[in-house]
Amino acid sequence: MEKSLENNDITIERIFFKTEKIDTLPREILQILLNIIKNAKEILVEKEIENKVIKIYTSEDDVYLYIDIEDNAGGVPKENLNKIFQPYFTTKDEHNGTGLGLYMSKTMAQKHLGGDLRVKNSKHGAIFTLSIKK
Ligand SMILES: Nc1ncnc2c1ncn2[C@@H]1O[C@H](COP(=O)(O)OP(=O)(O)OP(=O)(O)O)[C@@H](O)[C@H]1O
Ligand SMILES: [Mg+2]
Repeated sequence: MEKSLENNDITIERIFFKTEKIDTLPREILQILLNIIKNAKEILVEKEIENKVIKIYTSEDDVYLYIDIEDNAGGVPKENLNKIFQPYFTTKDEHNGTGLGLYMSKTMAQKHLGGDLRVKNSKHGAIFTLSIKK
């Protein structure tokens, strides 16, 4: 997605801490990250945020590796926080969203990675946290 992010003046910041190495399913992780980054790109562009930034952090504890993706587009409205992982929930029109991206991402995280996908709001925007079981 690098080109598409560049064309939209979106900066990606990678803050990668060295973590344990694990055997995992890279294609599933890639698919989930693409869904999240695509959503971030869409909302940053739609809201015409001035300095568009997507930050990606890695961390770990004894049980999980974590990948956090944070944008600065203002976050998910409080009333939608418990809806965005439901199938077909979308705030986009029918040409731009099916509302399946996050539903499928969370399902993949739970079923194939032994982890989860959660969201919270920071003071800048939304933070999606993917956990992957070690
Ligand atoms: N980074 C974000 N900031 C704010 N709201 C978000 C963010 N990411 C997702 N959302 C909200 O969650 C909804 C669901 O996202 P999801 O990716 O599941 O579907 P979609 O992007 O609408 O369609 P698609 O299935 O094509 O991805 C979005 O329509 C949007 O309202
Ligand atoms: Mg989406």
